[in-house]
Amino acid sequence: MTARIHPSILSADFVNMEAALSTIATADAVHVDVMDNHFVPNLTFGLQMVGRIQDVSPVPLDVHLMIDDPDRWAPEYATTGAAGVTFHAEAAADAVELARELRARGARAGISIKPGTPIESVVDDLAEFDLVLVMTVEPGFGGQAFMEETMPKVRSLAHIRERRGLTFDLQVDGGISTETIGTAAAAGADVFVAGSAVFGGADPADRITELRRLADA
Ligand code: DX5
Ligand code: ZN
Repeated sequence: MTARIHPSILSADFVNMEAALSTIATADAVHVDVMDNHFVPNLTFGLQMVGRIQDVSPVPLDVHLMIDDPDRWAPEYATTGAAGVTFHAEAAADAVELARELRARGARAGISIKPGTPIESVVDDLAEFDLVLVMTVEPGFGGQAFMEETMPKVRSLAHIRERRGLTFDLQVDGGISTETIGTAAAAGADVFVAGSAVFGGADPADRITELRRLADA
């Protein structure tokens, strides 16, 4: 399957967001990091900004909620028209119920686990999800180093997906670059979030092409 590249706008210029979005029109989706300064020690933006990004983005939105109480808030992000909404297993009170609510609102439902969270927290409910995100850094900031020790979780999830005939996307997020994307692809990931690796260079479109090529190699 062709690798999908989701640039993370956490590394884009927040004051010139519409211009930043126009540089990634060849991406498969745009990864939108919502942080509340509680679940993670950083703050980005909320529903109003995500709604405006939705209005002007040339590609679908992949919203990554790093917030407390996603049971309360995630459905509202689905209502903005986001193609997918991913919440954290560590924060949700009832992940299955929430996934069903997201799907009922027309969004793809995603669940994410931090580097220290075992896959056992999601394996029983995989059929309820369209995407599983294995964090490859501690969530909160762009530009951190890829944690290769998370790869066994990606391999296990890819194996379980195959064995059970499931079709969820397997996403990685954090430290994905031309140096690391091959490792994550070999482990079984098929959707790659990249912030600094896409927006850190002169030409984001070139970076997207290069990352996709290396993931498919
Ligand atoms: C980190 C965010 C990531 C971040 C990745 O908590 O979830 O999406 O933007 O940034 P890079 O690709 O620079 O590690
Ligand atoms: Zn993210």
